[in-house]
Amino acid sequence: MLDSKEFVKRRKQLMRMMGEGAMAILPAAPQRHRNRDSEYPYRQDSDFFYLTGFGEPEAVAVLVPHREQGEYVLFCRDRDPLMETWHGRRAGPAGARERYGADDAYPIGDIDDILPGLLENRERVYYSMGYSPEFDQRLMAWVNRVRARSRGGSHAPVEFVALEHVLHDMRLYKSPAEIKVMRQSASIAAAAHQRAMRMCRPDMMEYEVEAEFLHEFRRAGAWVSYNPIVAGGGNACILHYTENNAPLRDGDLLLIDAGAELHGYASDITRTFPINGRFSPAQRALYEVVLAAQQAAFDCVKPGSHWNVPHDAAVRTLTEGLVELGLLKGKVNELIASEAYRRFYMHRTGHWLGMDVHDVGDYKVGGQWRVLEPGMVLTVEPGLYIPAGSKGVAKKWWDIGIRIEDDVLVTKHGHEVLTKAAPKTVAEIESLMADGAVAGSAARARHA
Ligand code: GLY
Ligand code: MN
Ligand code: MN
Repeated sequence: MLDSKEFVKRRKQLMRMMGEGAMAILPAAPQRHRNRDSEYPYRQDSDFFYLTGFGEPEAVAVLVPHREQGEYVLFCRDRDPLMETWHGRRAGPAGARERYGADDAYPIGDIDDILPGLLENRERVYYSMGYSPEFDQRLMAWVNRVRARSRGGSHAPVEFVALEHVLHDMRLYKSPAEIKVMRQSASIAAAAHQRAMRMCRPDMMEYEVEAEFLHEFRRAGAWVSYNPIVAGGGNACILHYTENNAPLRDGDLLLIDAGAELHGYASDITRTFPINGRFSPAQRALYEVVLAAQQAAFDCVKPGSHWNVPHDAAVRTLTEGLVELGLLKGKVNELIASEAYRRFYMHRTGHWLGMDVHDVGDYKVGGQWRVLEPGMVLTVEPGLYIPAGSKGVAKKWWDIGIRIEDDVLVTKHGHEVLTKAAPKTVAEIESLMADGAVAGSAARARHA
C-alpha cells in the first residue's frame, strides 16, 4: 500500500506544474449499476486515486495552489449511520481531513454552494473534459455562476487546460514506491500462472482454470486487472476471448492472459502451454519463434531506445521464423515492408502499464516515437495466431494461438522483467507440468 506521503508528493508536484492562479478539479468514478439492486464492484478513477488515495464514489477533489486556507479540498459523502449500515463505511469530511490529508473537506451535497467561490479569480482550470458529460455540465454551471457575479468585481477563469496532459505524463514515470507495488502485483500474477500450469489437465473447462486465478488473486488481497482470457486451442486466435467456457482438449495449447490489480496497480501476463504438459513438434516450433521474438524485443528495452524499436525487433524475428517454418514465403525485408506478417501477428508488441492495464502516457512526442526512460513500465507481448481453415497453411499449424507477455521496467542501464517468476521456456513449462501431474496423481491416490 502506498504511504500517504506519496499522495502529498504527487499533489505538490502537480500544483507546482500548474502554477499560480490555477486550479484542478477531478471527480471520483461513478458507481455503476449492474442490474436490479446490484452494482458492479466499485473501482475508483485512476487519476482521482493517483492524487488522493481516496476510494469512495461521490467525491470531488479540488487543488488550489497557494490558497491560504489550504490547497487541497475534498468533497465527499457525509457520514450517515443508516446508509453505512446498509452500504458500508464512509470517511466523511472529518475522515477526509484526518486520514486522507485534505486541508479542507465538505459534504458533497454542499459543492454547488462552495465550488463557485473556489473558482473565483482563478485564471486557469485544469480539468479532463469530455469524459463525463454530466460533470462537464456541472462545471460549466459553476463557472457561469462566477460569471454572473462579475459585476461584484470577481472574474471567472479564462482558460481550461487538459489536466490529463500533465497528469498522465506524471503517471508514466513510476516512483520507487509504485515500482514496489507493481513488483508485488507481478509476483501475485506470476504465482497464479504457475498454479494454472500445475493444475491444468485435459477435459477440464476453461473456467475451472480461470477459477485458479481468482483464488490466487483474492487470497493475496488482489483482484483482476482486466477480464482474464483463458483460451484453449483455436479460441486463442480470438484476441479478446473472454467466454472461458469451452472444454480443454488433449493435444491443444492453452493461452491465458490474466493479471492482478494490487492497491490500484496492474500486472498483465500471458502464458501459453500445452494442456497435456508436452508441446507437439509444431506447437514447439512456433512457440520458440514467439519466445525468440520476445527476447529480441527485451534486448531493445533500455533508456534511449524509442517506443517502436522493441516492436520492430519482434516483427523481424517473427517474420524470420515464419519464413523458416514455411508459413510465409519470400524475402524477410519485403515481407516486413508489405506487412505480410500481420496475417499471423495483428497486434502491437506492448503498451504502457501502471494503474490502468493499458496505462496512460503518450507513445509519440512531437511526432517522434517516445524515448524510453528509467521508471517507465511496459508490456512485451509478441504472439502468433493461426486459426483453423487458414488458406495455404498446412493443417498441423491450425488452431495454434500463442502469446507470451511480460511486464518490463526500464532501468538506468537496461530493464528488469517484473514477471519473470512465471515459467516460460519449453523446458521450464514441461518440467513444472510433469511435477504437477505427479503431485496430482499422488493426491488422487491418497483420496482413493
Ligand atoms: N490483457 C490485455 C493486453 O494484454 O493488452
Ligand atoms: Mn498487455
Ligand atoms: Mn495481457
